[in-house]
Amino acid sequence: MTTTAIIDKNLFFADLGYTPHPGQQLVHDSTASRRILACGVRWGKTRSAAMEALAASMAPVSNAIGWVVAPTYDLADKVYREVILLASEHLRHRIVLMRESDRRLVLRNMAGGTSEIRAKSADNPVSLLGEGLDWVVVDEAARLKPTIWEGHLSQRLIDKKGWALLISTPRGKGWFHELFRRGRSDDPDYVSWNAPSVQNPHLDPEVIEAERSRLPQRVFAQEYEGKFLEGAGQVFRNVRECATGEWSGPFSRTHYAAGLDLAKVEDYSVLTILDDDRRVVHFDRFHRLDWHLQVSRISAALTRYNMARLLCDTTGCGEPVFESLRLAGTNVMPYPFTAKSKSALINNLAMMLEQSLITLPRPELCPELIDELEAFEFSVTDSGHVRTGAPSGIHDDSVVSLALGVWHHRARQMPSFYSGRK
Ligand SMILES: Nc1ncnc2c1ncn2[C@@H]1O[C@H](COP(=O)(O)OP(=O)(O)O)[C@@H](O)[C@H]1O
Ligand SMILES: [Mg+2]
Repeated sequence: MTTTAIIDKNLFFADLGYTPHPGQQLVHDSTASRRILACGVRWGKTRSAAMEALAASMAPVSNAIGWVVAPTYDLADKVYREVILLASEHLRHRIVLMRESDRRLVLRNMAGGTSEIRAKSADNPVSLLGEGLDWVVVDEAARLKPTIWEGHLSQRLIDKKGWALLISTPRGKGWFHELFRRGRSDDPDYVSWNAPSVQNPHLDPEVIEAERSRLPQRVFAQEYEGKFLEGAGQVFRNVRECATGEWSGPFSRTHYAAGLDLAKVEDYSVLTILDDDRRVVHFDRFHRLDWHLQVSRISAALTRYNMARLLCDTTGCGEPVFESLRLAGTNVMPYPFTAKSKSALINNLAMMLEQSLITLPRPELCPELIDELEAFEFSVTDSGHVRTGAPSGIHDDSVVSLALGVWHHRARQMPSFYSGRK
């Protein structure tokens, strides 16, 4: 690409009212045919990719076609919506066709030719068959199945010597990381960038700092610092290493502490009891018992374990059970769930596991606990917030019960955990 073309691009951006931040400017200035942008959430990846797509559609050719691809239609829509919005606002006179049904926009380019932009979802690979492309933008690339890029997209670019811009928050060390590394090697066709969210001057650094204290360290490192971590998406590390314990007790001089997560509609109630050394010694998971039976079963276990102290989720239907447990004479304390209090709870459990401060039962003794811990993951919502939880179809009540049980130990062992920071 010539210098003039780059200047033209900048002028075009200025016309659209877009001023790239310095990180985005590097991406726009690069002439590599494969650009890989691995940055934290809200860095401005989608925005810059939408701008690239529009700029490409202005190139003076007789006809051109480019795709915006993402793991789902909704995600592909994010880049596409920005394109549509900008085109409607600034390039109305150039719109030849704008069709919702198949997410297709055709623009009149600088040479009077037609340039087409289409949004595509990679969850339907059949829709990725077809024509040769002049360019492709892939959003949330790291979440694409590994075969999609090699098998369906990169070969679409061969005929027309097209370019690709792959953008994503990092997600473990899969195919996207491989591509990223290639951009760091001396292959001149590939260029990579990696930057934390704070590089976007339009974000409030205080909001990002607030997220740091709210999120488990790993989650923050990946999502906001843009780090490639082993074990993508997993919140709890070191789970199997901690799972070496046996059921034990009750022993007469030991103090026990417990956590209780109460069944909501579909799931289970789970009681977890730990000893002074933070070893899980008792675990009980039950489904669809009436409240009365639940209360007697729980209070019997607590009594057996030397009147163990119990922390109980009192949100929603937890309240009446909590009351009954209190009336039954157990040593129960409430833990009302809010987004913040739940984050603190999960954060604390993540750090205690990471530092091997807890002993879990061997996986054979309690497979559901180990499975739930390993499946528990973090993800970014459409609004750009990070959430943690079980993937759909998997429960998290064992995780919550354990987290409540170990919360008793947080203050005494590690006062700094109060703030959620290390
Ligand atoms: N150059 C820019 N000028 C103004 N606002 C920007 C710029 N780049 C990004 N933003 C804004 O920052 C926020 C995050 O951008 P987005 O592209 O959605 O980030 P990402 O895709 O990296 O999560 C959006 O509100 C977007 O409008
Ligand atoms: Mg985005």
